Amino acid sequence: MSKICVVGTGYVGLVTGTCFADLGNEVTCLDVDNERIQKLINGEMPIYEPGLEQLVLQNTRSGRLTFTTDYPKALQNAEYAFIAVGTPSGTDGEADLQYVRSAAEAIADNVDWPIIVINKSTVPVGTGDWVSEVISQRRSGHPLQFNVVSNPEFLREGSAISDFMNPDRVVLGSLQKEAAEKVSSLYQPLRCTIMITDLRTAEMIKYASNAFLATRISFINEIANICESLGADVNEVARGMGYDKRIGPSFLDAGLGWGGSCFPKDVKALEHMAVLHGTQPQLLQAVMEINRNQRRRVVMKLRKALGSLNEKTIGVLGLAFKPNTDDIRESPALEIIHLLQNEGAHIKAYDPQAMTNASKVLPKVKLCETAYQVAEDADALLLATHWNEFKQLDFSRIFKIMRQPVLLDGRNLWDAEPLRALGFKYIGVGRAVNGTFHEEE
Ligand code: UDX
Ligand code: UDX
Repeated sequence: MSKICVVGTGYVGLVTGTCFADLGNEVTCLDVDNERIQKLINGEMPIYEPGLEQLVLQNTRSGRLTFTTDYPKALQNAEYAFIAVGTPSGTDGEADLQYVRSAAEAIADNVDWPIIVINKSTVPVGTGDWVSEVISQRRSGHPLQFNVVSNPEFLREGSAISDFMNPDRVVLGSLQKEAAEKVSSLYQPLRCTIMITDLRTAEMIKYASNAFLATRISFINEIANICESLGADVNEVARGMGYDKRIGPSFLDAGLGWGGSCFPKDVKALEHMAVLHGTQPQLLQAVMEINRNQRRRVVMKLRKALGSLNEKTIGVLGLAFKPNTDDIRESPALEIIHLLQNEGAHIKAYDPQAMTNASKVLPKVKLCETAYQVAEDADALLLATHWNEFKQLDFSRIFKIMRQPVLLDGRNLWDAEPLRALGFKYIGVGRAVNGTFHEEE
């Protein structure tokens, strides 16, 4: 059993702290956002993450997991301090480390025993050295015995708990191998692959992994766009590719591209690091451009299908950046809504979990309570987030209540044939139908 402090109770920090408590450790999660901490003390979750509420409640009840805004209390007897605060993009893409700095300084101010500081947040290569600097300077008059370890997270929102409990690998980096080995003992119960390397390499593994996943997605989206002009079906192409063990089937879903609080921020930060240190990241720049283009292509398809977007009503199904989360950060749906509104379209929208977050940023959108309300009197229906509940909608009913039967399947969730048989104009991403080519009328 270890005494752990986690700074930051966002998607990363809250899951990390709760899971470590569930493994038997004594964990205190700290956040500067008092409202968020009060909610957690009252058993209310500040984020939607499947399974999290139950795990937080049972570990709080057992006394292993506590929440506070008070640094001295959070760090009391802590052997490990995880920094899991936000690292948002700065003006030209670099990661903003102000919150990492304030967490590191607060740790330095409130600890007088040997401690291991672990960077869980995604931070630019070299940040581990910088955090050491920050702490050493803060304690120049009264040196603190500490080590810094990089432990990047690979959690996917919507499956964060299972990703924590069944990781493909845990990556630990440090200039002091024994510090990394101590942190690895926290992960022993997971019986998973634990890779120990140096600080900068660990930080780079995180960026390279996210950038590669984003590249796969932009790759299959470019293939989808080529399929559209050649009459091939990208879902089948991806299936055929995936049988190759060197390629594998995952992360080859064509659609609206990637959003969220990680891929956009991390690819931009990696590009920024490259340019700053003299390497021209052509591939990363192309990967981002293709991703931006996927949103614009969907707007073009809707404009083509409706003649013009001015004064048209477009229904949008899904607002979160992916299913099983309430997170709307950099969600493709939001960007497409703004592009459509710029051309005079009126928007109706519904999302199973993200309505609260969306209502704060979509004032001119009519927020609905069901998919059918969104479809009513719509000139087109855009599927932006492939929530399971949108898979088996009653399309005969939808056909009757829409003003025009135009479906834009932004995530290739639906089968084109049955919908075309019902009379819909079905438009997917990279979809041909049974190999025949449908010139979009
Ligand atoms: C974010 C990034 O998304 C992820 O890539 C990175 O690895 C970690 O930071 P996330 O959990 O999504 O992860 O961050 P966010 O949801 O923004 O939560 C950060 C939390 O830290 C917030 O609750 C914020 O109040 C808190 N915080 C911020 C502090 O506790 N102290 C600070 O000084 C600043
Ligand atoms: C990602 C990484 O997967 C995770 O390892 C890292 O820790 C954080 O960033 P996350 O952003 O939560 O996780 O979700 P992910 O499932 O990776 O999806 C990211 C975006 O890519 C979503 O917008 C999703 O819709 C999109 N995506 C994903 C595709 O468009 N096609 C795919 O095949 C897969």
